[in-house]
Amino acid sequence: MEVIIFRDAASVADKGAELVEEMLRAKPDAVFGFATGTTPIELYRRLIERYRSGSLSFQRTRSFNLDEYLGLDASSPNSYRSFMDREFFDHVDIRKENTHVPGCGSGENPGQVGPRYESLIREAGGIDLQVLGIGHNGHVGFNEPSSSLRSRTRVKTLTRKTLEDNSRLFKSGEFQPRLAITMGIATIMDARRILLLATGEHKADAVARAVEGPVTAMCPASILQMHEFTTVLLDEAAAARLKHREYYDLAHGENEALKDRFGAFYART
Ligand code: GLP
Repeated sequence: MEVIIFRDAASVADKGAELVEEMLRAKPDAVFGFATGTTPIELYRRLIERYRSGSLSFQRTRSFNLDEYLGLDASSPNSYRSFMDREFFDHVDIRKENTHVPGCGSGENPGQVGPRYESLIREAGGIDLQVLGIGHNGHVGFNEPSSSLRSRTRVKTLTRKTLEDNSRLFKSGEFQPRLAITMGIATIMDARRILLLATGEHKADAVARAVEGPVTAMCPASILQMHEFTTVLLDEAAAARLKHREYYDLAHGENEALKDRFGAFYART
């Protein structure tokens, strides 16, 4: 796990965009895993800017989102499908039919959505780069604490804490789903590269548990310690409770020097 700490959230987004662009240069038809939430919005803005300036294109890419609420129509402004269209897809050249969100139509059996989503990911050749945020309680996607570390895309019940955290996005009196369909932890772990972004002091505890705590289903993001190629991008506030900060900075300096000499994927090609 590479942990890179930046001065502020804007620099986290800049670095995220740089790494996505690197992936696109290496593989113009890369398969992306995208995340919702407030954290990646700045990253999406940077990618839109880079697309507009002509430095990158998503035309040949495909994407799979981490999760979707169950019980909300895709057209609802609160659905993650709407979020992705609004914040990203509508502004770049990705083909809409190549973007996937694990939504469940009304009347459809939600138990069948997960296996189907897993097959679509497999048919696409797997995810090359998965963008992740992290919940207050250490969740990734909607894999709440106690989620099986070998889970696959399925229905999850959201914790009270997650419902509270996300209630800010719903108007008062508006229906807020208590269930979601989320990629499982094993689905996320199958991605070839993972970028986890976290900003703000309110994420410091979850980040410390994910990066330096024991690997445990009680902090689902901690499983990333067992992933081959995960990069954690943090601002100072989100990194505040890390104990090994000095080492992360040192290693980052060395990795950048190697990258300058041998290119972006020096260690992986
Ligand atoms: C939601 C999403 C997660 C996201 C988390 C944190 O619960 N399902 O994918 O990482 O919120 O969101 P934010 O970035 O708004 O803090």
